[in-house]
Amino acid sequence: MNPNMAPRASSGECAASGVKFFAGAFDRLAHDEVVTLSEREAAQVWASALQAVAARHAGNDPVEVAAGLISGLPSRVTVALHRFRTVGTMHNALLLRGMCADLTDLPVTPATSTPADALPVVEAAALVLLTISLALGEPFTFRSLYEGQLVQHVTPVPGRENTQTGGSSMAALQWHVEDAFTDDRCDHFGLLCLRGHPGAVTVLAPARCLDLSDDVVAILRQARFTIHPDTAHDLPDHTEPMVIPVLTGPAADPEICFDAIYQHPADPSDHHAAAALKALRAALDRAAIGLELQPGDVLLADNRRTVHGRTVFHPRYDGTDRWLLRTMTCASIRAHRRRGAIRALN
Ligand SMILES: [Fe+2]
Repeated sequence: MNPNMAPRASSGECAASGVKFFAGAFDRLAHDEVVTLSEREAAQVWASALQAVAARHAGNDPVEVAAGLISGLPSRVTVALHRFRTVGTMHNALLLRGMCADLTDLPVTPATSTPADALPVVEAAALVLLTISLALGEPFTFRSLYEGQLVQHVTPVPGRENTQTGGSSMAALQWHVEDAFTDDRCDHFGLLCLRGHPGAVTVLAPARCLDLSDDVVAILRQARFTIHPDTAHDLPDHTEPMVIPVLTGPAADPEICFDAIYQHPADPSDHHAAAALKALRAALDRAAIGLELQPGDVLLADNRRTVHGRTVFHPRYDGTDRWLLRTMTCASIRAHRRRGAIRALN
């Protein structure tokens, strides 16, 4: 068993071992946050997805094609997805393992976030990810992000090694929630691993597990912070940042909007707000859990209640690099409709 995947934390207990973000040793998802498909289940899911690629080629909407695959998911997967969406899990994350039964025909990893063509095996994986995502809401993206691709490719990209984007590798992706700069950000996101990379660890820290003093929490709950768009978005420079709190919602299960790089006190002289952000970063480090994604894994995370990042890895640029697909979902069809009822926002 991969030591990065073995459940260690028990249900109901937050990981709080004092592990540091870059130390390379993390607590893991709880046992009931991992669902592993049997070989038979995996083969059925994969066969249906490959068959559905033909419908995709006929010009059908990929989300509607994926909707036709929902009934083929194993019932324990749909039950786990329902529980994750409604009740949540200890770390507000869920790992589905074995979702791509046969990746032997996987092409070389593209050295770009926007590859032009996808072979059937990649399209089938994208449909699997969309199918799972549909259980959590409506898949969408932003026009300003990766050319508006609904299913995005996360691969190391030459020249972006040290950026804070999905194309990075040599720099750790610091703690963040997806698209923190906008309230239109996704409620959940999903990562499907086509190809892993030893030592590339996805890290998560749930807001409910943070040990923060009452004083720090009080500051983080005030609208004293701004977040600028990250460089993955192709937006005008004059985009005005919101002034928002970091923590909102119930004390026992708060929501969090945090970005270690792009978030700052709205007032540059607000030293208490700056100190609160520093204390939060340290608390996230202490609460971190991590996992090294394996081919066929689908990791789902609650983008409103969990912060995430990724450790450093060294790309090879030889076609065998780490390759993930990513989707984002809006949990409320009403909210999605109000934002334009289209899958690419803005
Ligand atoms: Fe991210």
